Order: sequence, then structure tokens, then C-alpha cells
Amino acid sequence: MNRSIYKIAMVIAAVILCSSYCYSQTSSDTKDSIDRKWWKEAVVYQIYPRSFMDSNGDGIGDLQGIISKLDYIKSLGVDVVWLNPIYGSPNDDNGYDVSDYRSIMKDFGTMADFDALLKGTHDRGIKLVMDLVVNHSSDEHEWFKQSRSSRTNPYRNYYHWWNAENGKPPHRYSLFDVNHDAWRYDSLTNAYYLHYFSRKQPDLNWENPQVRKEVFDIMKFWADKGIDGFRLDAFQYAAKDTTFPAFPPNFEKNFNLYYGMQGNLHGYLQEMYKEVLSKYNVMSVAEGAGNTVLDAHNLVDANRKELNMAYAFDGVSVAKPEGYSLLHFKDVFSKWDSAFADKGWLSIFLSNHDQARLVSRFGNDSPEFREPSAKMLATFIMTMRGTPYYYNGDELGMTNAGFSKIEDYRDVSALNEYQHVKNTGGDLNAFMKDLQFTSRDNGRTPFQWNNTLNGGFTTGTPWLQVNKNYKAINEVTENKDPNSVLNYFRKVVKLRKDNLAMVYGKYTLLDKDNPNVYAYTRELQGKTFLIMLNFTSKVATANIGMDISKANLLLDNYTTPLNGNALQPYEAVIYELR
Ligand code: NOJ
Ligand code: CA
Repeated sequence: MNRSIYKIAMVIAAVILCSSYCYSQTSSDTKDSIDRKWWKEAVVYQIYPRSFMDSNGDGIGDLQGIISKLDYIKSLGVDVVWLNPIYGSPNDDNGYDVSDYRSIMKDFGTMADFDALLKGTHDRGIKLVMDLVVNHSSDEHEWFKQSRSSRTNPYRNYYHWWNAENGKPPHRYSLFDVNHDAWRYDSLTNAYYLHYFSRKQPDLNWENPQVRKEVFDIMKFWADKGIDGFRLDAFQYAAKDTTFPAFPPNFEKNFNLYYGMQGNLHGYLQEMYKEVLSKYNVMSVAEGAGNTVLDAHNLVDANRKELNMAYAFDGVSVAKPEGYSLLHFKDVFSKWDSAFADKGWLSIFLSNHDQARLVSRFGNDSPEFREPSAKMLATFIMTMRGTPYYYNGDELGMTNAGFSKIEDYRDVSALNEYQHVKNTGGDLNAFMKDLQFTSRDNGRTPFQWNNTLNGGFTTGTPWLQVNKNYKAINEVTENKDPNSVLNYFRKVVKLRKDNLAMVYGKYTLLDKDNPNVYAYTRELQGKTFLIMLNFTSKVATANIGMDISKANLLLDNYTTPLNGNALQPYEAVIYELR
């Protein structure tokens, strides 16, 4: 339960804020006015630093490891790298528990390494976006150490405390707590502190103007170094009703409704924009788009001066262990596209570090269909309106590891929920079965670079086991194969970059009720592209009601297409119509 609520709660949005370097263009042959922005035209590549490349044999990926792979990243054709947190942290939640916002986690290297990484990306024309984790800090942050030391400490109000003489605080749900209880009693001052995530991740009090100033100063510190943006972690939870009223019964099922998008959230974002984001040429990426399309617009519409880009979780949440319906999938993406057709901007993604692997969830990771389905999913993401986000390893078609023993997992949410199920007499077998498919650790196994020991990720013992399939699925092998998932990914990224219609073009869904094929057009300034994607392991046909015999086939994930509109299993085609 905790984990499924977590998945829902992971509706956290990426937001990209831009100041200058934005330009507008009005097309002469259509009435469309294109509000061009570099962050709309970018392809974002997400790197989980702990799992990307280990340079010193301690089993943990690090900044020098990323530096050593910059040419590889460049070869993908992506424009922006989003790094998961690399700040000082005791690593209860792999860096999402920050103990020092102005330093680099020891496991990852030094500030000099960071500066070299930033230079290395910029030298290659790639921008660097950092995760900003400020809904909560680590309990080992100096602020929290001070805060808990006495009720009168100047840092007391940096966090949310409830004095125990007032009785037990109204229940709040915690996503990672063994007891699901977000209030943790601290005997030192006879009070409870609030933590929506783990006990080691106390929530910061955004009502306190000093907290806001601290955060804005931290952002300026990184922006002054020259980074290109921020992804705001879990930010929709930052504002709270600090009178802490009791929630109605069963509110736990509505974590987002009661915990997200509360209070003065928009006020905090507008202040952040005014104080920081408007002053730099940065894009910012926030996690979560609220509960409705209207919430998302209220976060990102340009006139509001808050965030640039909604990172809505409806799409990524469609896949369940039991599968998903393509009709539902199409419906979700079409609904979001139409709601943002005229105003606002979306992120397009189907995976990240909080999800199991793309091809295992949305495609088919069997030996027969892994390659075509991974390529088909890349085609989908690169041909939709919005900014595409691709998570490292998905460009190789890396698959779920599906560990069967709890000892093999490292994720705090998996380990604490296991303990919860055990303590409450739940069904551990069912829990483990679910975990094999859904665990975040599936998406965090080390990057598979080559077919040597540990997939070339480390010469030591990896912090999380490498997927056993690394001898077959790895970068070196795929790089040599012109028909690999990797080389297809490069082609489809290039096709997107070469055609502005893929970024801004009008999206029209075709053959809406077809349960097997997702077909649509993208249209801009007299150019029309047709995309047809078979989401099944059988031959399927799209009834698109148009003659494509004269259309120009730009890309196909099979070497030989079938006749007419018939598509082979997981086939993806892109035509230019004429
Ligand atoms: C969302 C992040 O994406 C996730 O990895 C993390 O565990 C939580 N926020 C808490 O920071
Ligand atoms: Ca290392």
C-alpha cells in the first residue's frame, strides 16, 4: 500500500524556468505563433550518479565517472543532463536527504570534480540541471541539529514541531516510515517532528521566511556557478496547513489531495521566481503537477511567473504489474496534450529513478521483443509534444533486475515497507512479488557499459547488484550494432531535433479506439508527420483513413516494413506525409 501511494504521490513535477535565451517566432504560412524556448526544444537525459559510472573502484558511481562518459552522453544527441542529488548526504534516501546543500557528497567526489563536470558538459554544448531537495533536509543537516536541540533555538521553526504536552498530533501519513507515521517523537524536547518521507528526512517549514531565504541563497550559489536549471524535488508538498487539522477518514488514499498543493505553495514559487529564477538563464524542473490539469496550468503558465514545465505523473502511472490498456494510455496522453495545446508546457516521460525499467513496464522485456519494444517506446517519447526526458540505461533497453531476496534491495522505501508488512503480519510473499516488478531499485542497477565483470561499471563491489543480463545488454555491444536499441535511440533523437514539428506541432490522435496501435500526426507549418506504434506482440493494423503509399518513410524500428498499414510486433514507423 505504502508503495502504491508513493507512486501516486510521486506526482511531483519537473519545472524548468527560463529567463533570457528565449525567443519567439511567428510562422508566415500559418497563423500559429510559436513561443520558442530552448528548454522546450531540449531532450533531457537523466543521470542517477550512484549508478552511472564508478571511477575509483569503491562500487559507487561518482562525478569523475560521469566526466569519463561525457563523450558518450554527447553521442546520444541530448541537450540537457539532469543529475539526481549530489550534495552532502548521509544517504538514507540516496542523496534525497541533504545534510549540506553547498558541498558534494563524499562518495561522489569534490567541488573541483563538480566544476570539471560543469565545464565538460558546457564544452560539449550540453546544459546541466541539478536536483533541488527542499521539501525536507536530512536530520543530519546543521539546521535540524540546531532545531532539535531546544525549543528556543533560533532554528526551531525551520522544521515542523508539535509539543507533546498538546497530546498526539493529528495523524499524517509517511511514505517511507516503517509505521507510516509522519510524526516522530523526539524525547530531547518532548516534541514530535514531521517527516513525509523517512525519519531522516524532516520536512522544512516553508512558512518561515528565513527558510525561504536560505533556499534562495542556495539556489543562487549554484546558479552563480553556472548551472542551467533546477528540478524541484517533492515541492508540491512544501506548503502545509501548519494548524495541522485532522484529515477526514481514509484520507490516506488521497495523499496528493490532502498533502500536495496546499496553502501558499504558489506564493512560494512566485517568490522563488522573483528572487532567483528570473535573474538567471536557468531552467527549473519541479516534480509534480498537482491533481488536475488546472493545478498543472497554475504551476506553469508563463503569465504566473512560477515554473515552466509540468511533470505530470498520470502517464507513468498507467503501467501496473498486471499490465495496462493502450486505450487508457492514449487517453491520458491525448487529454494532457489537448489541455496544453495552447498554453503551458509538458514533460514527456515514462521512466525515472523512482520507477522500474521503461521496457519492463511499458514494453516487453522478453528476448524476442525487448529490442523492438524499447525502440517503439523511444519513438513514442521523441514524437510527442512536450520536452522528452530519458532515464539513463533506457537508451540501451536495460531491464528490471527483479531481485527475489530482500537482502538484495537497497531502497529505503522497499526496506522500510518490507519491515512494515512484516510487523503488521502482512503477506510478505505477495509483497516481494510486487517488489520484483515495481521496485525503484529495478531502475537503479548500475549502468551496463560492457561485457566485463560488473558490466564495466566498477572494478569493486557494486553498491547494488548489476543486472545479470549485462553480457548481452551493454553500451559497447550496442554501439557496434547499427540495429541496436542504442543506435535507434540516437536516430530518433536526431529526427526530433531536425524537425520542429516534433516539438511544437499540433498532435492529432487517429484511430482512437484501436486497442493495439497508437497512431497520430504531428503538424507544423505545412509539414505533417504520421507516427504509428504497435504496442502489442502480434501483427496489428491501424485504420487511419489515409493513403500512405506516397508518404516518405523516415524511420522504422524494423529493417523491412510490411505492406500497407500493417505493423509487425512492436513496430514503430514515422512517415512524412505528402
Ligand atoms: C522524490 C524523489 O524523486 C525520490 O527519489 C525521493 O525518494 C523523494 N522525492 C524524497 O525526496
Ligand atoms: Ca566511486
